[in-house]
Amino acid sequence: MPGPFQATRVSEHVYWVGGIDWSSRDFHGYSTPRGTTYNAYLILADTVTLVDTVKAQYRDELMYRIASVIDPTEISLIVSNHAEQDHSGSLVPVARIVKPDRIVASPMGVKALARHTHGAVEVDTVRDGETLSLGNMDLSFVETRMLHWPDSMFSYLGADEILFTQDAFGMHLASSERFDDELDPVILESEAAKYFANILLPYSKLIGKLLERVGQLNLPLKMVAPDHGPIWRTRFDWIAGLYDKWWRQEPTLKAVVTYDTMWQSTDLLARSIAGGLTAGGASPKLHQLRASHRSDVAADMLQSGALVVGSPTINNQMFPTVADLLSYVNGLKPTNLIGAAFGSYGWSGEGVKMVNDTLREMKVELISEPLRVQFVPDAEELARAWALGEAIAAELKTRVA
Ligand code: FEO
Repeated sequence: MPGPFQATRVSEHVYWVGGIDWSSRDFHGYSTPRGTTYNAYLILADTVTLVDTVKAQYRDELMYRIASVIDPTEISLIVSNHAEQDHSGSLVPVARIVKPDRIVASPMGVKALARHTHGAVEVDTVRDGETLSLGNMDLSFVETRMLHWPDSMFSYLGADEILFTQDAFGMHLASSERFDDELDPVILESEAAKYFANILLPYSKLIGKLLERVGQLNLPLKMVAPDHGPIWRTRFDWIAGLYDKWWRQEPTLKAVVTYDTMWQSTDLLARSIAGGLTAGGASPKLHQLRASHRSDVAADMLQSGALVVGSPTINNQMFPTVADLLSYVNGLKPTNLIGAAFGSYGWSGEGVKMVNDTLREMKVELISEPLRVQFVPDAEELARAWALGEAIAAELKTRVA
């Protein structure tokens, strides 16, 4: 009788043996409405090799899938391409079961795993450009430092022409299908963009260099196998092309208008700004922050030329959801954005100034002074909001080739 979890054959020597997390809805603060996968790969070489493990709660699923192909104790080598716990959280228990001859990671991976496992496993270093013999085939390593952790690396199996890319080219998408051509490309693009915006955006320039380097390596590629979401076997050029667009963050005519509101005054301003943006030829997307998750705002920001942020003032502060959003997107280090701050206030109005200061700190090019309105905007003030939207649209048009 088959076990409860089966491996999926990926190529002549490689099996997918990961975990499917159908119920994940929050990945360290990133909303994952479609769940996710933690991909791990079994290479049936003379030296049987496991590339990455899975989040701790999915260890049994991993072990059952491995056992559907071989006796897990046949694994001699474990490669840790990335030490974050969704990929290394099972490393210690798995190593205790399979007793591999070696566990390897990048130089920074060795340090990170030492801190994660507190010395429970011994990990050897493999360096950028190094090749390990697996007996009848080779496995090579490419360090991808800061994509997105210092330890991150890729592994390449020349025999099957597969590049294992840990988080890069991944997405949070639980599915029964394992390959890109089995899934809806609209969903793939949307989830890949959200992943890029929320995980990789702070390292955009390194992505550009990485794409260049992978191109220079001229590796024959039949498949690219990330640690989340589908394996790319037909559309890698397509996703690489999207990465090449996203890392540049070139201005577009899209604009994110994100805000919160207490008594709908800031909401009225947001909608008036959106009207002006539309009239001016831009395409605004509104995110009221008690209806939209910060990670969805970030996903839209990735492909926008403007970030317009509004907040009422509460107890001399910006609204808590706006503070949350700004703290988050500030850390993502977006570039090439124009924007403005707006909002209503009762008697002091510090909130909008705080938003304005944070946008300036983020190097968002501010198009105007903050738009501040006491209590409820009147027709003249709503017209000023509309005009602000039109001004932002006009500026965007000058920046879009
Ligand atoms: Fe999927 Fe950076 O962990």
